[in-house]
Amino acid sequence: MPVFTRLRLFAVCIALSFWTCHAGQRARNGTPAPGLKDHYREYFPIGASVSPRTLRNAGEAGLIKTQFNSLTAENVMKAGPIHPRPNAYNWGPADAMLDFAKANNMKMRGHTLVWHQQQPDWFFKDAAGKQIGKDTLFARMQAHISAVVGRYKDRIYAWDVVNEAVSDDNAKVYREESPFYQIAGTEYIAKAFEYAHAADPGAKLFYNDYNAIQPGKVERIYTLLKTLLDAGVPVHGMGIQGHWSVYGPSEQDIRHAIEKYASLGLEVQITELDVSIYPPENHRRDRKPDEPDTFTPELQQKQAEQYGMFFRVFRDYKSVLTGVTFWNVSDRYSWLDNFPVRGRKNYPLLFDQALQPKQGYFEVVDFEKR
Ligand code: GLA
Repeated sequence: MPVFTRLRLFAVCIALSFWTCHAGQRARNGTPAPGLKDHYREYFPIGASVSPRTLRNAGEAGLIKTQFNSLTAENVMKAGPIHPRPNAYNWGPADAMLDFAKANNMKMRGHTLVWHQQQPDWFFKDAAGKQIGKDTLFARMQAHISAVVGRYKDRIYAWDVVNEAVSDDNAKVYREESPFYQIAGTEYIAKAFEYAHAADPGAKLFYNDYNAIQPGKVERIYTLLKTLLDAGVPVHGMGIQGHWSVYGPSEQDIRHAIEKYASLGLEVQITELDVSIYPPENHRRDRKPDEPDTFTPELQQKQAEQYGMFFRVFRDYKSVLTGVTFWNVSDRYSWLDNFPVRGRKNYPLLFDQALQPKQGYFEVVDFEKR
């Protein structure tokens, strides 16, 4: 065989073996292996929350492109990071994320405009450091929302307009300790939606919350949403965060919550899904010296079953469920690694630390199992 032909053959072999071995992302016959987004093409977009660092890492960026067709900024669009001082916006990181989404044909969700956390301190104070009044608060909210939503008009298709405004206390509907509530009572919620709608009339506007499948909290969130809708406020969707665990929630509670929100004519999204391997805990603490934090085969099995059940339920509601987003990409990094227990590793996602699909992944893409 002539040298040139031999060289060509060699090059083809190298290319083929790279192709077939590439991080499980290509099937053996050389066609791209389907990712989560492809399995769910007929159902809903599958998203992940990302940071600029994740997108710069070639391995993680590759995984994101193969598996997901929607992105949410983990932090860079929150008021603190994007609007650190009264007249200063930090657009760079958010712009770069949108560029990545566009280059890879992905949708982008906006997160979040009004939240009692990660809101810059200056937002609630005057020049003398005193708490501002309601009119100033509304003026600042309007300026912030118009600037952020306006900049990404027609590019961000859905916004989490208000995050976590409902109380965890059964006796009250609203989170009364939020500085927004302290200054303006409940009125700030409707205002936020109105400002967002004015800035981008085409964007889908969501209310987003955690524990949003707990029957008591479902009632309180329902009350808030119904009050807004009855008053003609432009709310289009309910975001169920979905910070869940191998210990819950139950199938019945998830179904009940989705049906209840959908009964208001709203679309529903799962906006921040992860499945912790630990029972839920409410208070921050340090990991005890002998406390285990390994991902045992039993926990892998439990987590896989739980993921399988969640997605089976999600598929059943494809007519109202318009997106499922994971909070982070792989077990390399999760916000749960240090929360609520400092120094404890968690393994809540569908890809392991080597970016390979876990047992749960195969449950999620197996549509035959009931
Ligand atoms: C909430 C917020 C998210 C994120 C998570 C934890 O759910 O909505 O933006 O901060 O907490 O990281």
